[in-house]
Amino acid sequence: MRKKIVAGNWKMNLSFEEGQQLTSELVNMFKDEAIQDVVVVINPPFPHLYPVQRLVGDTAGVFLGAQNCSDKESGAFTGEVSAKILASFGVSYVILGHSERREYFKEDQTLLATKVNQALAHGLTPIFCCGESLEIRESGTHEETVKAQVTASLFHLSPEEFSKVVIAYEPIWAIGTGKTASAEQAQEMHAALRSHLASKYGQAIAEQTSILYGGSANPGNAKELFGKPDVDGGLIGGASLKSRDFIEIVKSF
Ligand code: PGA
Repeated sequence: MRKKIVAGNWKMNLSFEEGQQLTSELVNMFKDEAIQDVVVVINPPFPHLYPVQRLVGDTAGVFLGAQNCSDKESGAFTGEVSAKILASFGVSYVILGHSERREYFKEDQTLLATKVNQALAHGLTPIFCCGESLEIRESGTHEETVKAQVTASLFHLSPEEFSKVVIAYEPIWAIGTGKTASAEQAQEMHAALRSHLASKYGQAIAEQTSILYGGSANPGNAKELFGKPDVDGGLIGGASLKSRDFIEIVKSF
């Protein structure tokens, strides 16, 4: 059985106090509402990681994730944060290849492959994002595009390494736009991705890889999305900033 995962991506939001407030609310709700069989990952900006972790403590099923890591191991790289440092702070997951990083920070497929290697080398689980623009969706080449992103940054991994990776399909036209992919569109892409994984790593590994959907997921559409056989959870941006909305999404399975 593959893991069901809901990851909240705070992006570049929330002050120290706001982050503490949101985390306390989440932790209390998780205690009250006993979320079972779902892995919850909180991905705040870097300075929040340690204080958020102190609040999360040993809350069952809740893990800490970063939104990025360096492609370098350590050394004179001012402003960067390595996978090694993250791991030493108890971080378990790292989002890599988010479309905002690809677009605004010009992260290319080769760099992302190196970041994936760094994450795995230090025991972090990469949440590897892929997804197409509206233009590509309209041209009908979205499946090839998304498969090519996965091939370029992940298919150098050994089967053992690859089996530690989580994939997030995030159509760029649905991120922060209020326009969600329909559950059918998500299912279609997730199934195509899974068969792509099977062609490289075999059916067993493909079947145990969690593939999350991201892009304007909210409490109103999560149930339908998560109800699809190949949708194993979500990467949640805007709705992860409100504790009630985030919990409702977690409870949508
Ligand atoms: P959104 O963002 O839920 O605000 O659309 C998702 C993401 O970018 O991870």
